[in-house]
Order: sequence, then structure tokens, then C-alpha cells
Amino acid sequence: MDAIVVQGGRRLHGEVTISGAKNAALPILAAALLVREGRCCFRNIPRLRDIATICTLLETMGARIEVAGEQVEIDAGAVERPEAPYELVKTMRASILVLGPLLARGGRARVSLPGGCAIGARPVNLHIHGLEMMGAEIKVEHGYIHGRCQRLRGADITFDLPTVTGTENLMMAATLAAGTTVLRNAAREPEICDLAACLRLMGARISGDGSDTIVIEGVDELQPVTYEIMPDRIEAGTFIAAAGITGGEIRIHNCPARVMGAEINKLQEAGLEIEREDAADGERLAGTTVLVRGGRSLRGVDVKTMPYPGFPTDMQAQLMVLMCLAAGTSVISETVFENRFMHVFELQRMGADIEVEGRSAIIKGVKMLTGAPVMASDLRASACLVLAGLAAAGETRVNRVYHLDRGYFQFERKLQALGAEIRRVRAGNS
Ligand code: UD1
Repeated sequence: MDAIVVQGGRRLHGEVTISGAKNAALPILAAALLVREGRCCFRNIPRLRDIATICTLLETMGARIEVAGEQVEIDAGAVERPEAPYELVKTMRASILVLGPLLARGGRARVSLPGGCAIGARPVNLHIHGLEMMGAEIKVEHGYIHGRCQRLRGADITFDLPTVTGTENLMMAATLAAGTTVLRNAAREPEICDLAACLRLMGARISGDGSDTIVIEGVDELQPVTYEIMPDRIEAGTFIAAAGITGGEIRIHNCPARVMGAEINKLQEAGLEIEREDAADGERLAGTTVLVRGGRSLRGVDVKTMPYPGFPTDMQAQLMVLMCLAAGTSVISETVFENRFMHVFELQRMGADIEVEGRSAIIKGVKMLTGAPVMASDLRASACLVLAGLAAAGETRVNRVYHLDRGYFQFERKLQALGAEIRRVRAGNS
């Protein structure tokens, strides 16, 4: 298994370009299932392991896929096995995103139930309940969700809590349903708006995305499209944090700064200088250039993760590393997932002073971190440990780095180009 080895203490300097958003690309690739005839072309698709997984999933169903660099073409005309097997779903929970499109398209689906994961139980009950309200008959047997329906019908659905992939699943299902669907207490994440924009281009009738009430009027069919995915706000946030933790200066291109208000404000409060270099107008989801200077000393800040537009849970671990080296005490509360502090124990091994009380971590800034071998528990925890390694004295070896490849395209190469002393090693090598 690969590991990443970092020698800490280098100031990062230079330019980096942000890749397409994984969490927008996954639902958008699944949405190709809604197009019964013709070939869709998606651009700015990051070449990540999760993307390869969803492509394999669509291929096993019968879709024809061609990948050329960051472009993925999908012809879902020949899909005839509406199944997502356990072997694929267990490696990526977002595979559940095919459930809604399969039912909408052909009235049949068999999708493995995702198991638990490192960051909590993460059930899919709200996806299932919503599809049942739209007329699907759903049974869970032998670890699989079996769904059947005639044409889905529009329904008025209120989510118990805002769920990102749940909102996406039902929004996709509703595009081909008979009548109007209203999704209330819907999630408002920018990736949902990107999916909605793509679906509208396909001919779907959707309004209200980005607010907590989304209205979808069903249509009979959707058309193939060419669509370019938005840039990744979590990757961008991670590079902002990298400038902060190393006291460096990084110019970040293709940064979706307009949808990063919560994290930019919080990082500024912590002492980073973050400046947008482009004119203020333009597409909300488009990338812009941002200059980050991290030279000033870091200040402790308190933060609570929340659904969008609040501070994203996917940036919690990266912010925590900054707080480990900031002046004063910070409190980070995780309200979205119940078990998302696994990185704390690894950071403690690097000399961080963190105490966990329920869903809050209390962090007292220390003068320095020291390099150590550490274990990544999930995608964002891996990024946080690499950031810690960049600032720590001596060598840090981040094991189980395959998590990183699920969500960051060429992370260590991009960091190398900024001057980091970082390399990937195969298991057993040093
Ligand atoms: C998505 C993102 C993930 C991010 C998360 C929260 C993708 C592919 N993944 O995950 O990176 O960390 O949003 O921003 O976009 N819940 C239920 N029942 C359900 C569904 C969710 O109780 O049926 C709960 C979850 O356990 C969690 C909360 O709702 O506590 C929010 O989860 P959700 O928004 O669904 O996360 P994902 O869509 O899985």
C-alpha cells in the first residue's frame, strides 16, 4: 500500500490549479443514466479513484464509456443490468446515486446498501423514503435495496434533515416522474446547483436549487449534453490551508471562491490573507484566481460544521491542523457526522494538544508539531495529516494513503510544484 512521506518546514510558494469537483462529478455522471438515447460529454472531470469507480459501475450496467484525460463520454442507451454490486458500493458510498436515476429510467434497480464508514453510520433511509413517496416499491433484502415502480410520480417531500446525495438522488428521479415534485428542507450545496444546471441543459424543469425548496416538473425524456463540471471547493480550501500552515504564498487558479464564503471568512479570521484577483461578476460556480498569504501568525478560532452555506464538514480536519499551531484555544464542533475526529489521535501523536468532548474538539495551540508515522482514516483526514506533515519538524509518513487518491488529483505532485518536500513510496520501500 502506498504511503506519503513529507519532510516538514518548507514554505509553499507558487501557483496551483484546482481540478473539477468530485462531489459534483459523481452525481452528474450518474445523471447520464437518465438519458436513454445518445452520448453525453462531461468535461473537467477529475481523474480520481471515486470517478473510476462510478465509471466501472455504469459500465457493468451496460453503459459505453470513453475517458480521454479530463473528459468522460457516456452512452447509457444500452444499460440493461440496473444493478450496483456490493464490491463496488463498499468502496464508494456515493454509488447510491444511481438508485434514483435507475428507477426513473427503467422502473427497476438493485443497489447494494452501503455499509458503515469511518466517519459514522451514514444511513440512506431518506433516499429510500423519498423514492417510496414517489411510488417506488422498495425492499431491503440480503444487503441490497430492491426497487420497482411504474413511472415514478411527483410528490411533496420534506427531508428530516438536509442530505446532499439524498437531495441529488430525488432531484434526478423527479426529472422523469409524472407531475411535479417538491423537495423541502433540501440541501443547498453548490454541487447540487451544478447537477441541476446540467439536468436543465438536458431538458429537465428544475427551479429553486440552492434554496431549501426545489421544484421539479417531470418531463418525458432528457437529451444528451456537453457539460463542464465546477471546480472543487474542498481541494481549493485545502490549498488555502496549505499556504496558511507553511506561512507560504500561493496563487490558486480555478478556485470557486464565490461559493466558499464560510471557509474563506474563517481562514481570514485565523490570520490568513486571502484576496480575489478577478472582477466580482461572472458565473457563481465558476473558478477564479485567489492569492493566499500565510505569513502572519495564526489565531485560534471557533467553528461549527454545518450544511451549506455553513462551514463544510469536509474542511473540518484541515482547519484543525491550522488550529494546532495557532495562538490560543479553539473549539471545533462537528454537527454533520458523529464520528469525524479520527484524525485527532494521529495529530496528538505529532504533538498536538487536543481534547475531544462529545462532538467538540478543544485545541490548544502548540509551538510546533513533530513528524511521526501516522495512519489516515478517511479522505479528508489524509489531507489533514499531509498538511500537518508540511509544518512538522522532521519526517512524517502518512500510511493508508489510498483514501487521498479517492478525492485529490495528484495531491503530492501539486504540492511538490509549490516547493514541498513530499514523495510517494510503495509499501515496504522507504
Ligand atoms: C455528501 C458528500 C460528503 C460530505 C457530506 C456532507 C458527496 C458524494 N459526498 O455526503 O463529501 O461530507 O455530503 O456535506 O457529495 N443522513 C441520514 N439519512 C439519510 C442520508 C443522510 O440520516 O438517508 C444523515 C447522515 O448520516 C449525516 C447527514 O445526514 O449525518 C448529512 O449527510 P449527507 O448530506 O447525506 O452526506 P452524503 O450525501 O453522504
